[in-house]
Amino acid sequence: MTELTKEQLYRPGMEGVPACHSKICFINGVEGILEYRGYPIEDLCKHSTFEEVSYLLLFAKLPNSSELKTFEKDLKKARSLSTEVLSLITSLPKTGHPMVMLQSVISALGLFDTHVDLRDEKKNYQSIINVIAKTPTIIAAFDRYRQNLEPVAPNEDLSHAANFLYMLNDKRPTELETRIFDICLILHAEHSLNASTFSTRVTASTRNNPYVSCSSGVGTLYGPLHGGANERVLQMLEAIGKVEFVRPFVEEKIAKKEKIMGIGHRVYKTKDPRSFVLQDIARELFAKQTDNTLLDIALELEKITGEKLSAKGIYPNVDFFSGLVYRILGFETDLFTPIFAASRTSGWCAHWLEQMEDNKLFRPSQLYDGDRKLSYIPMSDR
Ligand SMILES: CC(C)(COP(=O)(O)OP(=O)(O)OC[C@H]1O[C@@H](n2cnc3c(N)ncnc32)[C@H](O)[C@@H]1OP(=O)(O)O)[C@@H](O)C(=O)NCCC(=O)NCCS
Repeated sequence: MTELTKEQLYRPGMEGVPACHSKICFINGVEGILEYRGYPIEDLCKHSTFEEVSYLLLFAKLPNSSELKTFEKDLKKARSLSTEVLSLITSLPKTGHPMVMLQSVISALGLFDTHVDLRDEKKNYQSIINVIAKTPTIIAAFDRYRQNLEPVAPNEDLSHAANFLYMLNDKRPTELETRIFDICLILHAEHSLNASTFSTRVTASTRNNPYVSCSSGVGTLYGPLHGGANERVLQMLEAIGKVEFVRPFVEEKIAKKEKIMGIGHRVYKTKDPRSFVLQDIARELFAKQTDNTLLDIALELEKITGEKLSAKGIYPNVDFFSGLVYRILGFETDLFTPIFAASRTSGWCAHWLEQMEDNKLFRPSQLYDGDRKLSYIPMSDR
């Protein structure tokens, strides 16, 4: 068999190129299947919690009740932030995007954790627990600080999802709000080797701790072609304003070859299975609202883009309906991506562990297209 040349191996954006073996997440983009550790996402949304799913992702099995209790207790104990971390948060500009804040503060958590030692499994476990448990507290503390409000201390009586809502709003959420938010956290917890998980693994592969590795993930997730799409979906729906403006909006975008936010996916060539779950939740929530305009615009947009783009395999992705759900739950638009990041910390940490189990430094090659062996030009001749 003849070996492929570097040019033949090259795929822009590494599209479809396997970069690691993994047992964490299975996706079939043609049939629209998503499984965490072999369990269908729909079943996990129906029966599980974010804490249980995080355990599953990290430790490759569903926990028994005492394992789950211990894991939940460890997360609860780790939720609060030291005064140093809180004062770091309140030294940052209130006008900054919370994703940029989050990237810096998650990385800084490692500076305050004097016990980091990658050879010690127990210490690695604690670093991972810290990242997953503290990320919601960081986001909520920053959100309150920028509104000139005191942070709300975490409440150990509440689950991960309920406590996150409680710290954001200083109000205990209802059971329905908690369950819906828990499902959103489950849906965003993991999605195989996407850009942010890849960047987390690349950083881990240089033998970095979970704080620094997840901070790489946050930075990568922030971009509008990845996690940043969800806030832009809502801005787009609001800018369209009326159902009858959807068709001209789509036609103009296609004519100008511009991307419509919340549709299209590198892996899914059918409707993202997560968007079915979120669509049902959005419908349920909007049924209780007096104004359904945003949902109606979204449904019309799905219909028209379906007519025009489904032949290219372009369908709604996870971000298409999540913004609508988050809007009803009362979140500021620029918190959508940080909330996504808070869910994804468990997936990133699972990949961190897997990378550490059989680490090989990532070092792809490039095809050099530049000049060579030029003669140096003195300044006076340029
Ligand atoms: C996610 C995304 C980056 C995947 O892109 P990709 O796999 O690199 O696919 P490409 O950008 O090469 O697009 C392939 C074709 O579909 C079209 N397309 C892809 N996504 C599109 C979108 N959101 N709106 C309009 N057309 C789109 C492209 O214009 C291109 O058409 P062409 O072949 O006629 O040039 C892309 O679909 C996108 O930018 N979506 C919007 C942002 C978003 O919602 N991101 C969240 C992902 S979970």
